[in-house]
Amino acid sequence: MKKIFLISILTAAIGCSIFVACKKHEFQKRDDAPYLDDSYDYEAAISATGSANQGKVTNAGARLGRALFYDTKLSKNNAVACASCHKQDLAFADNVAFSSGFDGGKTGRNSMSIINALDAKGFFWDNRTQDLNDMVLQPIRHQIEMGLESSDFLITKLKATSYYPMLFHDAFGSTEITKELVGKAMAQFIFSMVTGNTKADQANVIIGGWNTNSSILTPDERQGSAIFQNKGCAGCHAGNNLRGWNDLSFANIGLDYDYPDKGMGALTADASQNGVFKIPSLRNVALTAPYMHDGRYATLEQVVEHYNSGIIYNPTLSPQLKKMDPITYQPMNEAVKMNMSDDDKRCLVAFLKTLTDYALITDPKFSDPFKK
Ligand code: HEC
Ligand code: HEC
Repeated sequence: MKKIFLISILTAAIGCSIFVACKKHEFQKRDDAPYLDDSYDYEAAISATGSANQGKVTNAGARLGRALFYDTKLSKNNAVACASCHKQDLAFADNVAFSSGFDGGKTGRNSMSIINALDAKGFFWDNRTQDLNDMVLQPIRHQIEMGLESSDFLITKLKATSYYPMLFHDAFGSTEITKELVGKAMAQFIFSMVTGNTKADQANVIIGGWNTNSSILTPDERQGSAIFQNKGCAGCHAGNNLRGWNDLSFANIGLDYDYPDKGMGALTADASQNGVFKIPSLRNVALTAPYMHDGRYATLEQVVEHYNSGIIYNPTLSPQLKKMDPITYQPMNEAVKMNMSDDDKRCLVAFLKTLTDYALITDPKFSDPFKK
């Protein structure tokens, strides 16, 4: 018994020393290996949020996730990585309505920002997945996005590199690579992308402090934060991440009478959910154009004009965007008109631009480790 114990300690020690030795050596750039600075602290930012999920991320796990996120080997023909459609300088969204996959095919919907996923309840425009560990494997298999249908082929490719076996060992204690661990590591990297360092946060106007007198905001931005509240935007884009939550997570905002893409209705075959889409977070929204599930609006001005005068009544339009009967206070079969002045619209856009986190988009720990 003792002997076995000793032997295993010895093997572990030898194993470790080999790994420590390799580690120093291998982190020097070699062939196509990533530069991964192991001093980056991914755990710290998450503890600062006080999230109940903070135990889910380790520095070594997120570091491995970063390599995977930027590695084109995760696509069938080594042509695209996750980061091809989720770009750091765009708050991890893309700047085209539909992104190009590994073979030049276009995605059916607009690529969305993937930050602040830590406490998110559902993923994709139609909430078809609730578990991020599993979600992150879907783009790899997707026939348009990355096209790697066989997970055996994925694992073979990763095992053949000079760096993944060691990175998996650092993160999970074994050089064994499985698709579950790929998902887990990538989810850890995404979980660590938390953003809260914006002008609006500094002015404390997001939760509980709308229309504050804070001198951090300009008068226009302050007025915009009040309009955001008064016109009901905050009722849907709610909470610290200005996104939907719980039963208010999805809405039909009257983009069409008859939606070509039925959104949640296409998934559930329930006609009352036609044109119903996830309520996206408005954090960093100034960086994530074009807007909506189909990228139909190029600017925030166009989005604001949609809400102001362009909402189309349709059978599944959300009640918050219907006109109220002045006597019964019941929603009518008519879209609301917000009657914003040009000044109001300008201020609302100015407020939306205070939601940008410039530190996140330049933070080296989220950048491409295969560059330089
Ligand atoms: C070819 C472009 C493309 C690639 C490559 C890609 N994505 Fe996406 N991503 C999208 C699009 C488009 C959506 C929205 C799809 C939908 O809702 O149907 C999306 C949605 C997401 C979401 C959901 C965000 C939310 O809040 O609901 C996450 C997370 C995500 N992608 C992570 C990844 C990861 C991880 C990878 C790499 C394994 C990846 N993506 C590769 C285009 C891409
Ligand atoms: C009834 C709920 C609801 C209300 C009220 C609402 N929104 Fe939205 N918002 C949504 C949904 C759902 C989407 C996505 C719709 C789609 O793509 O089909 C969206 C999308 C957006 C987008 C685009 C985000 C992106 O990444 O593409 C912006 C900007 C926006 N809303 C701002 C506002 C403003 C400003 C107001 C107030 C004038 C407002 N919203 C009121 C639910 C709502």
